[in-house]
Amino acid sequence: MQTEDKKLGRVVQQPPIIEGDWLSQIPYTVLVEDNWFTKQLYKFLPHHRLAPLLYEVYIATQTFIRSSEISRRYKDAKDLLVNLGSGPQGQPGWVNVDAVPWKGVNCIYDCRKSLPFPSNSVRGILCEHFFEHIDYTEEAPYFLAECYRVLQPEGVIRLIVPDAGKYLQGYSQEGWEELRQIRPLDSENRDVHFGTQYQTKMELINVVFRQGFEHTYAYDYPTLELLFAQAGFSAIQTQDYGKSLMDELCIDLEARKPESLYVEAVKTQD
Ligand SMILES: C[S@@+](CC[C@H](N)C(=O)[O-])C[C@H]1O[C@@H](n2cnc3c(N)ncnc32)[C@H](O)[C@@H]1O
Repeated sequence: MQTEDKKLGRVVQQPPIIEGDWLSQIPYTVLVEDNWFTKQLYKFLPHHRLAPLLYEVYIATQTFIRSSEISRRYKDAKDLLVNLGSGPQGQPGWVNVDAVPWKGVNCIYDCRKSLPFPSNSVRGILCEHFFEHIDYTEEAPYFLAECYRVLQPEGVIRLIVPDAGKYLQGYSQEGWEELRQIRPLDSENRDVHFGTQYQTKMELINVVFRQGFEHTYAYDYPTLELLFAQAGFSAIQTQDYGKSLMDELCIDLEARKPESLYVEAVKTQD
C-alpha cells in the first residue's frame, strides 16, 4: 500500500487502483512525489509544508463531488459493519470507508468530521491505524461524536492506534531491545517496514509519532479513554489483538499487533 522515503521515514501512498472512475485516476503521486510539477512548487515552498496541502487537495477532489451521492446511498441503511480508514484492508460485507480509492474501498468519504450514515444504523465500527491521522482538537472529538451517533444501542467501536505509551517505555529502557519487540528492526536498526536506519532512539520515536506529515497525535490508553468518555461511550476498555466484544470486529492486521493499542467502547443508549 505504501512506498517510503527511506531517508526521512516519510510514507508516500501509491496511486489509487479503482478502475473506470475518472476521479480515481487523478494520480496522487503526481501531486506529492518528486516530479517536474512538484519540483517547481518546492522551489517556493518547503516540501514538509506543501505535501500536506497537496494531500488535502487530493482528498478534496476525491470526496467532495461524491459526498451527496454517498449520503443518499445510505439514507435507509441499518445494521451496518463499517471500517473507517480501511485502506486496502476492506472486507466483503463491510462498508469500507476511505478518502483514497484503494482496492476494496466502497465508500469514498472524508470521515474526519462527519459520517454518511443515519443515526443508530451501524452495529460495529472498526478503525485501525486511522485515528492518529486526524487532528486532536479540531477533528477527533467530532469524529468520535459521529461514531457515537451512527452506532445503534449496544453497538461497539474497536479503535486501534500505535501505542505511544509502549514506544515511550521502550525509549526509556537501556538499549534497543524493548523497542525491537514493538517495531521490527534489523541488526543495524533499520526499520523493516520503512527502510529508515535509526541512529538514535528518538529518531524512531519521531518517525512513529509523525510519520512524515501523516500522524498528527500520539495516543496512550488514558487519553483514548478520556476522549471516548467525553463522546458519551460506556464500557471503555483495552482489548487484545484478536479479542473483541463483537467477534465480527476482529479483522485487525496481525502485522500491526506488536505496536498497537486496542481499545473498545459501547454505545449503551441513544
Ligand atoms: C495507515 S492507513 C490504515 C489502513 C488500514 N486501516 C490498515 O490498518 O492497514 C490510514 C488510512 O486512512 C486513510 N485516510 C486518511 N485520511 C482520511 C480521511 N480524511 N478520511 C478517510 N480516510 C482517510 C488513508 O487513505 C489510509 O488508507
